[in-house]
Amino acid sequence: MATKVLMVCLGNICRSPLAEGIMSSLVDSSKVYIDSAGTAGYHVGSLPDPRSIAVAQKNGLDITNQRCRKLRAVDFEHFDHIYVMDQSNYQDALALADTDAKRSKLELLLVAGGQEVTEVPDPYYGGDSGFDYVYGLVLDACHRIASDNDWL
Ligand code: 4NP
Repeated sequence: MATKVLMVCLGNICRSPLAEGIMSSLVDSSKVYIDSAGTAGYHVGSLPDPRSIAVAQKNGLDITNQRCRKLRAVDFEHFDHIYVMDQSNYQDALALADTDAKRSKLELLLVAGGQEVTEVPDPYYGGDSGFDYVYGLVLDACHRIASDNDWL
């Protein structure tokens, strides 16, 4: 059965849709199922932010199949790995996990991906360059996680 991976940020319109799209483009889809969600429900049902769509497109990825959804407690039962973008996401997600087994599924994406920077900054209120920076950070971490876990 495929390993199930969930990418999580606050809004599920900027960072985690990129993480979902990037990881999906790297792995063997028969080995890994990938989804994303947000800890907040501000944008449920929406497409990713146009700036995330644009940076993905610039790098050859189409993420317009994605729609925003909110993280739920049941995600800790369905998914094997839940990667969050920052400490605030970590704390919000942790509040939905009621056992050690569930809590152990939660990791900072960049820490799991062996990066020096530990948090993916929220690019929502910044300019386009923030989205390029996020793309690069997430890409490097996803490469590392995919090869470490033999998902390629
Ligand atoms: P994300 O960015 O967590 O990377 O999707 C955000 C998107 C929307 C909001 C905040 C962060 N918001 O406040 O609406």
